[in-house]
Amino acid sequence: MTIAPPLGLLAEVTHRCPLRCPYCSNPVELTRAAQELDTATWARVFREAAALGVLQLHLSGGEPTARRDIVELVAAAAQAGLYTNLITAGVTLDAARVAALAAAGLDHVQLSVQDTESTGAERIGGMPGAHARKLAAARHVTEAGLPLTLNAVVHRQNLDRLPALIDLALALGAGRLEVAHVQYYGWALANRAALLPTRAQLDAATATVDAARIALKGRLVIDYVVPDYHAHRPKACMGGWGSRVMAVSPAGRALPCHAAESLPGFDFPDVRAMSLRDIWETSEAFARYRGTAWMAEPCRSCDRREVDWGGCRCQAFALTGDAGATDPACALSPHHALLDLAVQDAAADDGTFIYREMARG
Ligand code: SF4
Ligand code: FES
Repeated sequence: MTIAPPLGLLAEVTHRCPLRCPYCSNPVELTRAAQELDTATWARVFREAAALGVLQLHLSGGEPTARRDIVELVAAAAQAGLYTNLITAGVTLDAARVAALAAAGLDHVQLSVQDTESTGAERIGGMPGAHARKLAAARHVTEAGLPLTLNAVVHRQNLDRLPALIDLALALGAGRLEVAHVQYYGWALANRAALLPTRAQLDAATATVDAARIALKGRLVIDYVVPDYHAHRPKACMGGWGSRVMAVSPAGRALPCHAAESLPGFDFPDVRAMSLRDIWETSEAFARYRGTAWMAEPCRSCDRREVDWGGCRCQAFALTGDAGATDPACALSPHHALLDLAVQDAAADDGTFIYREMARG
């Protein structure tokens, strides 16, 4: 059987980050700098990705610019012929660094913001002074002629300011705004009660997006999907396990999704020991939940099984203890009520965060 190549490579080049966001999707056990792949190995991985058929590279983390060699990494990706997107918090980007990244061949920048003004944003991100630096970074990006997407991770503690987040995206010259609801694994799961939005907040946000999409047609594209905890059907996480995306962790583990190391019973391949092509085409880890043959009921006989691929394996494991279960975001899952209970419990939570840190106490 021929396996179509992945379209995207998500390279998590480091877990280091100056911010401490409580919704981070990185694993609770973070990889230290000494364990990260070196420049030459990443460059080889990028060449192997291009040879495999990957078109887009997402340089992510942690904060990818925490790596001193980020310009070299971008240059290596550009030489490999990959369309390269930098997913950044922006706080380490001054004008010279952005210009160097653009000259190295960077194609696109996706900049995260935590809120619309500094007090709230910096309480969420856990880094004093971060918000002003992000606004400056956005300016440097557009002045360098690079396309900018603003990524706003939304949750109960900032969702009411969605209209202002849309205004901010316009003011910063972004062509796209991703309104990204928190996904609950890694650090975010530990903070779920502090972050889950209410139904009323969600409905107001959906109405805001609907109106803005009409009013801003041709000026700003807004990406927005209903979050799992308020949905009836799951999303096709990663476009299906082992189907569209390969992730590589800072230490060089090839993963079918960036959160897959949270799943037990896997021996994820090491990019230092296997080529990306061998990993994609022959590894058991990528094959385990690929396609539909692994599915149990209700997915097995469902007419959406090749639409959402049974949802998210990491969420299924986090909520049911079985990575092969139907994602509880699906109303047909016997565990769907867990999500309603979590939303109800969250309404009574005082909103205190557990901040991300390298060694959790
Ligand atoms: Fe998707 Fe499975 Fe739910 Fe059907 S039963 S909608 S395939 S998650
Ligand atoms: Fe891992 Fe969805 S986050 S499969």
